[in-house]
Amino acid sequence: MPKVLVATEKPFAPAAVEQIKKVFDQAGYELALLEKYSDPSEFLAAAADVDAMIIRSDKATKEVLDAAKNLKVIVRAGAGYDNIDLQAATANGVVAMNTPGQNSNAVAELALGMMVFMARNQYNGKAGTELRGKKLGIHAYGHVGKLVGDITRGFGMEVFAFDPFVPKEEIEKDGVTVVTSADALYETCQYISLHIPANDKTKKSINYELLSKMPANAVLVNTARKEVIDEDGLIKLMADREDFTYISDIAPDCKDEIAEKFAGRFFFTPKKMGAQTAEANINAGIAAATQIVNFLEKGDTTFQVNK
Ligand code: 3PG
Repeated sequence: MPKVLVATEKPFAPAAVEQIKKVFDQAGYELALLEKYSDPSEFLAAAADVDAMIIRSDKATKEVLDAAKNLKVIVRAGAGYDNIDLQAATANGVVAMNTPGQNSNAVAELALGMMVFMARNQYNGKAGTELRGKKLGIHAYGHVGKLVGDITRGFGMEVFAFDPFVPKEEIEKDGVTVVTSADALYETCQYISLHIPANDKTKKSINYELLSKMPANAVLVNTARKEVIDEDGLIKLMADREDFTYISDIAPDCKDEIAEKFAGRFFFTPKKMGAQTAEANINAGIAAATQIVNFLEKGDTTFQVNK
């Protein structure tokens, strides 16, 4: 009987765990749960005898993958898989997958919620501003970027996007104006919503030079990864420009300095919570469980990311 570990330092909603269990019960698999663990050694120990794993932002390091001697497949229930050591997975013959699109709506709704919250001065009673009529730039038009566009167009924002990997026509049919460079997007838009993955090319790519192109009262919304921001550049820019606001789903490493120097011009969630809804957990959890069964039973490698 294959054994599957769900290792989630930030647990799924109970309803999602129930649904995941149902999928594995039906397949005749054993399920082990490791939630809210505080030390990576607990993850290492739990991984030792499992055939498959579901994780969220949990770090699947080389150490974990080496310790998981029976592991055949690991699924990141979510979009970004920068937390999996893909080289180690491949070297160990482990198939790594994600579940693209399954938690996107939750992330898009959070991006919007944070934008409204900050435009209204964190609901402190003082007059704020509205989103209607403002220009929003979507940096990378994947599942989340597209949904952010759909919702913000509903708010009456003028939506632009830059994504060199998505055909122009595909973006334009959503009523979004395509620009052909990041520079053009940042020059045009008061609001930028970030949806790029964190990889060797993108880490620290959102830097002083790019951000300083943004128009007056600029707002950067980051529901992607903190690593894509060049934090030295961000601090310098926030010091130079009193009209710049930074909103992020997960605090940057320099959060204390920002809090000390730039009161009222930032908001950070205490823990990454873009995908933290029951619906997103259920969608991503069921998808991950089903992908594991389909791989172990039929060799289905759809959504493999270490090809
Ligand atoms: C993702 O990449 O899908 C999101 O960042 C969600 O991450 P989480 O599962 O840790 O909430």
